[in-house]
Amino acid sequence: MNNWNFSNGGRVVRAPARAKKEEKPHKAKGVIYTGDCIEIMKTLPAESIRVVVTSPPYNLKNSTGNGMKDGRGGKWANAALINGYDDHEDNLPHDEYVAWQRECLSQMMRLLRPDGAIFYNHKWRVQGGLLQERSDIVEGFPVRQIIIWQRSGGINFNAGYFLPTYEVVYLIAKPDFKLAPKANAMGDVWNIPQERNNAHPAPFPLELAQRCIESVGSGPVLDPFLGSGTTAVAAEMLGIEWIGIEKSPSYVAMANERIRKLNHLSDGQMPEHLQSFLIPVPS
Ligand SMILES: C[S@@+](CC[C@H](N)C(=O)[O-])C[C@H]1O[C@@H](n2cnc3c(N)ncnc32)[C@H](O)[C@@H]1O
Repeated sequence: MNNWNFSNGGRVVRAPARAKKEEKPHKAKGVIYTGDCIEIMKTLPAESIRVVVTSPPYNLKNSTGNGMKDGRGGKWANAALINGYDDHEDNLPHDEYVAWQRECLSQMMRLLRPDGAIFYNHKWRVQGGLLQERSDIVEGFPVRQIIIWQRSGGINFNAGYFLPTYEVVYLIAKPDFKLAPKANAMGDVWNIPQERNNAHPAPFPLELAQRCIESVGSGPVLDPFLGSGTTAVAAEMLGIEWIGIEKSPSYVAMANERIRKLNHLSDGQMPEHLQSFLIPVPS
């Protein structure tokens, strides 16, 4: 059953079917690795993943303004990310950050099947008065499209420029990649409110992950920056096999909890189709 409508140039078009929240989840395999994403991706087989859906740390604390840089908060005083992540400061020198993200993308590309694609969510920002779009990270990778994720508001009030209200999702695709039937009708501007009921400092909304996965239509799905497990929950709801990697054990605990609840299990129980591995991060 189709249950999404999108407005497209005045015409209402139908989008492909998506799982309803109340639908009983299927039992496709799920795997969570707790550890460093590059180290773990290196151990996974080449060309084994159909779709990557991910949002890396944005390196927000390495910033020229708004108080994120020195940790006092400034205009960001209410932003959860002022303290960084549990196990990641989000404050690398810019060149190091770009090199790290390019290495992550190279590993994701190695893992992708020839008909696979990466949905790489990032945020553009103004640094020293100039737009910092993220072409230094994605340059040389086969970016096919930029999807605009239109959020319901922003938090960066600056008299020098308009309030930023969107993030981007780079669609980085291998040559044989094709969208699922009718997914093209979703268009390239996705209006999705940000997540509000999640204790993780920077989750993306479930609907964003669902759209990415549904627009491909099959797995396995990989999220190397799993955070609170949003991509895993979306894949579970669609009955699609998934793999998640997350460095912070406390965020992995959040992901486990969401999956446990989705599968209607009692406290401490985990579904049989879920496997967990702890890979210590080398010091
Ligand atoms: C933007 S958040 C992802 C949030 C996720 N999309 C969600 O909805 O919850 C980025 C995540 O990357 C994790 N992270 C940082 N460095 C990592 C690394 N080297 N390997 C794996 N995960 C890492 C952080 O702990 C954080 O949870």
